[in-house]
Amino acid sequence: MLIRKPSDIEPSEITDRALYQNRRAFIKSAGAAALTAGLPGWFAAEAAIPGKIALPPIRKSAYSTNEPLNSLKDITGYINFYEFGTDKYSPAVLAKSLRTRPWTVRVSGEVKRPKTFEVDELIKLAPLEERTYRLRCVEAWSMVIPWIGYPIAELIKRLEPTGNAKYVEFTTLHDPDQMPGQRAFFGSLDWPYVEGLRMDEAMHPLAILGFGLYGEVLPNQNGAPVRVVVPWKYGFKSAKSIVGIRFVEKQPLNSWQKANSREYGFYSNVNPTVDHPRWSQATERRIGDFFKRKTLMFNGYAEQVAHLYAGMDLRKYY
Ligand code: MTE
Repeated sequence: MLIRKPSDIEPSEITDRALYQNRRAFIKSAGAAALTAGLPGWFAAEAAIPGKIALPPIRKSAYSTNEPLNSLKDITGYINFYEFGTDKYSPAVLAKSLRTRPWTVRVSGEVKRPKTFEVDELIKLAPLEERTYRLRCVEAWSMVIPWIGYPIAELIKRLEPTGNAKYVEFTTLHDPDQMPGQRAFFGSLDWPYVEGLRMDEAMHPLAILGFGLYGEVLPNQNGAPVRVVVPWKYGFKSAKSIVGIRFVEKQPLNSWQKANSREYGFYSNVNPTVDHPRWSQATERRIGDFFKRKTLMFNGYAEQVAHLYAGMDLRKYY
């Protein structure tokens, strides 16, 4: 994976947290005003922000970290999304060309109820939650992001996977007209972008389908209209702008492993004791911070997920 040295990153000038909290307060009061007018509160809150695709009501989740959030500017501006270029700044500009409606997600493979979902149907499938997670990129930087989504398990349990479903494979849209990074002359990865999880990983309550962040629908560069978020793994496991979810018996060959199996494996759990062949994973720079901090096993989610890997040699299964 190409990397930019984290020391090149400017500390963010503004924290959007206060702004965000103000907006939440605004949305709440808009909801209260609507109630007195006899409208459902969430409806009026959405109607109060013109031009945005509306999200259903969002509840808080106990799975959130209360660490300070990264600014909206950092989260939407410093990005890996190779379909829109291999540097960190092009996706914010080039992803504007992505058309996120109409959008379908095809669920196939080893399930009793294969189905193609309209994304707006998928959004409404289960209650949306705000999940503030740490994101640790394999390039040794990190952020704290208030995602909106629901556990992938909510979808899986409605589909009734067969006994042969051992893994879940996620596939990103392949459309070079909209995604210039997929044109042959860029040649960075084999398209489409593919990622995978073991079934028990995908069923873990921390693994979510993301539809929004900072209270609103996902910006295109963050993987609109639907993406995966797996907080205990390096960021590249969290495939963006997905159009396919396939249940399979064999371990999927994920894009980064296909590109360079010496450097990237299937599991890709955040692990400070196993270095990337070209750099250490022991520390990370939280975007906006000056000093580095220690990287935590499973990105700080060891208590919740370590049991998934009991008895496995994580040096071998990197
Ligand atoms: N998904 C697709 N389709 N293409 C990508 O290039 N990059 C990954 C991941 N998902 C990527 C992707 C990497 S390396 C990271 S760190 C995260 O997206 C970063 O995006 P985020 O900050 O919006 O999570």
